[in-house]
Amino acid sequence: MNEPWEIEDFLEIRENQLHIDGVNAVELGATHGTPLFVYSEKRIRHNIERLRKSASVIDCPLKLCYAAKAMSTMGILRAVKDADCDIEVNSGGELWKVLKAGFRGEQIIFNGTSKEEWEIELAIENSIYAIQVDSIFELSLIEKTANRLEKKANVSLRLVPDIKTGTHSGLQTALLTSKFGMMPEEAFKACRTYKESANVRIDGIHLHIGSQNPEPGAYEAALQMLFDSMRRIYDETGIELKHVNLGGGFPVNYLRDASLGSEMPHEQRQMFSADFEPSKAIGDAWATVTAIASDSDAKHLLDDMTLLLEPGRSIIADAGLCLTSVRNKKTRPVEDEAISNRNSRIENDTWLLTDAGFNILLSMETYKWYYHLISAKRADAEHKTAYKIAGPLCDGGDVYFDHEGSGRLPDHRLLPENVEPGEVLALLNCGAYALAQASQYNGRFLPPVILIKDNGKAELIRRRESFEDLIGSDL
Ligand SMILES: Cc1ncc(COP(=O)(O)O)c(C=O)c1O
Repeated sequence: MNEPWEIEDFLEIRENQLHIDGVNAVELGATHGTPLFVYSEKRIRHNIERLRKSASVIDCPLKLCYAAKAMSTMGILRAVKDADCDIEVNSGGELWKVLKAGFRGEQIIFNGTSKEEWEIELAIENSIYAIQVDSIFELSLIEKTANRLEKKANVSLRLVPDIKTGTHSGLQTALLTSKFGMMPEEAFKACRTYKESANVRIDGIHLHIGSQNPEPGAYEAALQMLFDSMRRIYDETGIELKHVNLGGGFPVNYLRDASLGSEMPHEQRQMFSADFEPSKAIGDAWATVTAIASDSDAKHLLDDMTLLLEPGRSIIADAGLCLTSVRNKKTRPVEDEAISNRNSRIENDTWLLTDAGFNILLSMETYKWYYHLISAKRADAEHKTAYKIAGPLCDGGDVYFDHEGSGRLPDHRLLPENVEPGEVLALLNCGAYALAQASQYNGRFLPPVILIKDNGKAELIRRRESFEDLIGSDL
């Protein structure tokens, strides 16, 4: 392995070019066109197995539910199912998709802050493992719906633990100021009220502290909070919960090359380069909670429970990348004072305009998300020439740097010298929250997706959109 981004048997340089599971990326780009998303089934399995190691550091069963919102193309859902992983959804639409992909009700958990009655009905009709309840109001709606259907809904209460992590403000989900979940007091009250309900069964509690959380300690605080709530629910109502859900949010290392990103604000850099082992974080959290449980004669509560995790990014982000071609090139004097001060050596910028914009990589604009960029065609060449890079959209924010001037992304990207239009580049670690958030903005076709199967075959799992797709829903 020569480059920090290389991953043995997955992302490698062979014959000077980028290969994914042994398949030549440049040839894939030539066959299917760019932009093109490419995923590795082997890497998805590897990531799921890595998370499953948490089962060996706890004394109760582990239920791993892939957060479908990170990427839910049907071929990816099937790959997740084939890896024996369960699933988390966030809408009736996602629920419908995962049922269609073959997930059974007992494999599905359902989050969401604004569930509608038809979505709740779909969940109840399919006897899903847990509807994760966002508020007391929602719980009453679930009971009413289950009563109408003459069924009993399995529910879990989503708590707001007031835990801040070092992630981006838009990815914080566990603060009192964030929009998710209910206060613990409300959950205790709900347990008292619904204990004897014929139509809802409160089986669990849930929280999710955010996405790309760089500190393992946050999981310890979160599990402790869940255990305290579990104990109080037992003490006050006698309900012994069957499951506790610690959410997702395990980080991916987007900045594997430690020499890069020096201009980023410290917290941003910490967040992008976070690389902790989930099973270590879970093991530490479990040890703390077990000690507390033993000291307080409440160990029996842990004996019969299942621990749920709902990771998305840590399963799919580094399993996918986006191939993009340079479509245009120009030179421009550096005029921005802040930028020229930071890079005093650069007088003229060479701009490369690609075919991958924020319509398919939304976080790059909204959260200034860093996706490492390399030349797929000349992957082994020295990447030392600085370019300003931008996408194809008619929008000044469609750039690969921080146009707000705060340095949250590098002003320039390093690629081989003399990059010309037609060269295929690769944006790495784009598997999560990219295509899942894509739009047809500017009349751009949503790109195709390739899944390189376990057997090494590159399979098209989503076709490139056509003119007709641009108007398919218009009347
Ligand atoms: C409730 C919930 N669970 C799970 C996830 C998955 O998080 P991640 O993809 O960071 O693992 C999210 C995403 O933020 C979420 O909101």
